[in-house]
Amino acid sequence: MTIKRTWWKEAVGYQIYPASFMDTNNDGIGDLNGIRSKLDYLKDLGIGFIWITPIYESPNVDNGYDISDYQQILKTFGTMEEFDLLLEEAHNLGIRVIMDLVINHTSNQHPWFIESRSSLKDDYRDYYIWADGTINGPPNDWVSIFGGSAWEYDETTNQYYLHVFAKEQPDLNWENPRVKRELFSMVDWWLDKGIDGFRVDAISHIKKAPLETSSTNDPFESFKNVPGIETHLEELREIFKKRDILTVGEANGVSADQAHQWVGETTGYFNMLFEFDHISLWNKEEHEILDVIHFKKMLTKWQNALADGRGWNALYMENHDIPRSVSSFGSEETVFWQASAKALALTFLLLQGTPFIYQGQEIGMTNMPFASIDDIDAVDTKNFYYEMIHSGVAPTKAMNVIRRTARDNARTPMQWTAEEYAGFSKRKPWMVINPNKQKINVLDELSEPDSVLNFYKQVIHLRNRNDALIYGSYKLYLADHPQLFVYGRRLGEERFVIIINLSKDFASADLPENVQIEEWDLELSNLNDQVIHQHTIFAPYEARVYKHK
Ligand code: GLC
Ligand code: CA
Repeated sequence: MTIKRTWWKEAVGYQIYPASFMDTNNDGIGDLNGIRSKLDYLKDLGIGFIWITPIYESPNVDNGYDISDYQQILKTFGTMEEFDLLLEEAHNLGIRVIMDLVINHTSNQHPWFIESRSSLKDDYRDYYIWADGTINGPPNDWVSIFGGSAWEYDETTNQYYLHVFAKEQPDLNWENPRVKRELFSMVDWWLDKGIDGFRVDAISHIKKAPLETSSTNDPFESFKNVPGIETHLEELREIFKKRDILTVGEANGVSADQAHQWVGETTGYFNMLFEFDHISLWNKEEHEILDVIHFKKMLTKWQNALADGRGWNALYMENHDIPRSVSSFGSEETVFWQASAKALALTFLLLQGTPFIYQGQEIGMTNMPFASIDDIDAVDTKNFYYEMIHSGVAPTKAMNVIRRTARDNARTPMQWTAEEYAGFSKRKPWMVINPNKQKINVLDELSEPDSVLNFYKQVIHLRNRNDALIYGSYKLYLADHPQLFVYGRRLGEERFVIIINLSKDFASADLPENVQIEEWDLELSNLNDQVIHQHTIFAPYEARVYKHK
């Protein structure tokens, strides 16, 4: 079987949230030199590329997602020379580097916006979306993803501007060709530097419905994958197409049925998408226990939608916007923590697509027991907390919700060691450190054979060595089993089957004919060797990978 080898299909990605990764100048904030100092660690893990979340000049209202200069490095992170060095050293190790591209909005401190708001006649006025108010106040009833109205009144010109996210993140006007030209030339500038691609932020929001449109079912539907967005995306594609790069779009609102259009091999806008079906990013409610059947269904829907060359998936269980997967979908309880972290690794790393590991996920980091709202930095979480308080929710109850849902759960500093500041910094960091650093840290896990870290390493290397786990087809077994996730991968004669118990209870199953374990070799298991594997009984969070003899 001939395979069209593609680097971004074969490589395993690793997402870095720089402020919380590694601090080298001991100001309590991670930096570019910190990333550089850990490249060997990433290489050893088997990582093929890193995605760095925004490191550009920014007032940091939304931690770098509010950019005030696209072509400068934020001083707390370092300098452009340090970035160039990072890029060079990563490339020397065979690690590619992709950057975050935030082009739905800028910071309100971006010179374009400062100009734009200065007068109705300003040359930059149409760089953003301005409208007159109504008797009810804002131009329409649209609400921001970060809470409250999506419109902010600006006194200077007595008009409102649109912001899908925080009010300090005004949305760019993609209907203005000048805006697109500026953005595209910036994109070219970064690519000329030799970076290897982009994670494209909030890209499904760049097209807005006519302002008269009132939201009906979904409060964000007027700016989520709105018809007409194709035109903008086709233009963006022309810029990307000229290079051999990885592009992954953050695509809230794009369904599996539409995915082919977005990532089809020849006509797609991106190589792959971060879909929102299996993980609900803006879900403010407390999570129930994992609905295994539903979870499998969602993942399988995307696997099938993009199978047979129709496209390619981006695989993830964590990122900087969602709580830690062990806490949401596995278990923090001492008896289950390690097995569940490993079980969750197998729920995504060996599916068809390019896996993205989020920093700390590979050591099984968990949610943070935030003491109070003062420990929280994320703007949306604060808004949401105060909304709850104003509507009469008791503070203790509100904090319980926050603890389970806050994005900051994923933003506590990376736990390198058990030391006071987790080996992340020599002084108190910008964000609280999880007290479980004693138990969960890179240094200890490197030397412990059964650690979550060593399991990740084994799975990544297994994937790196086996084409079937990269290019092979996907098949779901036992779709209706409420505890087990069983899937196969196949490329010609090379076959794997992965069996994962996603529950705290023993599970049993009659495996289908073609998955009779007698014919398979156990390649990997998250229980130690003393355990005799029963063919049809699975311990809590037990996970196994079999290869056909
Ligand atoms: C994306 C980012 C998130 C950010 C938002 C606005 O969803 O992942 O962190 O707050 O866009 O840029
Ligand atoms: Ca620093």
